[in-house]
Amino acid sequence: MSSFAEDLHAALAGPVHEISPKYFYDAEGSALFERICELPEYYPTRTELALLRRHAPDFARRMGRDAQLIEYGAGALVKVRLLLERAERPHSFVPVDISGPHLLAACESLQAEHPALRILPVVADFTRMHVLPDPPTDGRRIGFFPGSSIGNFDPAQALDFLKLLREELDGGALLIGVDLIKDPALLHAAYNDAQGVTARFNLNLLRHAQRELGLECDANGFDHYAFYEPRLHRIEMHLLPRGPQLLQLQGRQYTLAPGESLHTENSYKYSVASFQDLARQAGFTPAAHWTDERGWFSLHWLEAGG
Ligand code: AVI
Repeated sequence: MSSFAEDLHAALAGPVHEISPKYFYDAEGSALFERICELPEYYPTRTELALLRRHAPDFARRMGRDAQLIEYGAGALVKVRLLLERAERPHSFVPVDISGPHLLAACESLQAEHPALRILPVVADFTRMHVLPDPPTDGRRIGFFPGSSIGNFDPAQALDFLKLLREELDGGALLIGVDLIKDPALLHAAYNDAQGVTARFNLNLLRHAQRELGLECDANGFDHYAFYEPRLHRIEMHLLPRGPQLLQLQGRQYTLAPGESLHTENSYKYSVASFQDLARQAGFTPAAHWTDERGWFSLHWLEAGG
C-alpha cells in the first residue's frame, strides 16, 4: 500500500501533480469537513439527512427483518442512526472505517443509545478487499454508503468499488447517496464558501504533510481553487501556487511554478440515469430512488441479485 510520503513525492515530481483526497483527513481535516457539512452553501449533507428522515420507514421495509447493516466509511455514525431507529430487529451493525480510534469512540456512544444492538466494527480501508463478520442466516446484508463519497472516485474506480460491494452484498442491497448535476453556480458556491472553510480544508493537505512528514513549504503561498468542469460533470479542487513555490520533502526539493497546481480532489456529479447505468454495469439492479424537491441530491436503492 502506498504511503502519504510516497504519494506526495509522486505528485510533486509530476508530470501531473495529483494526489488522493484521502490525505485531507487527519484530525484537523476531519474537523474542517464536519464544519463544511454545516455551511449554508454546502447543501449535500442537510439534503441527504432530510431524505433519510422522510423515507426511513420505506428503507426499514426494504431492509426487512434480521438485516446486517454495513456502513462503508462510517465516520461519526450520524446518518445511520436514522436507519437503525426504524430497522426491524437488526441482526447486527457493521461500521467499516480506516480510523480505528475514531470508529471505536463513535461505536461506544451508539451502543449506549442501542444497548441491544450487536455492533461489529471493522477497522479497514473499505475500498479494498476486507473481511466482514459472517452474514445473518435469516436476513440480508444491506450496505449503506451515504454522503456522495462515491463522487470522490473517478468513474473507473467507482465501478470497481461498486463491483466489490455487489459481491459482498450478494442477495442483499445497497442504499447509496449520490450528488446530482445542477446549476454550476450552486456547485461553485458549495465548494467556494464565503467563510473560507473549504479553502482551509483544501490547504490542510499541505499542513497535514507539514505536521506528519515534516514537509517544508509556505502553505500561505497557495490559493484554494475549485471549479465545475461541465464536460466531466465534476468539481475539481486544486492548490494553486501564487508565485514560484519551493517544497522540500525528506531531503528532496521540488518547485511549483505559478499556475502549476496540485490537484487535490474531484467530486463527480451524476444524473439519476447515469448513476443507475453505472450501478447496472457493476451488477446491481436499481430498484428505487428518491430526490428532494429541487432535484439536488439522490438516494438509490440497489438490489444485489441473489
Ligand atoms: C466527502 N466528499 C463527498 C465531499 C465532496 O463534496 O466531494 C468532500 C468535500 N470537498 C470539498 N467540500 C467537501
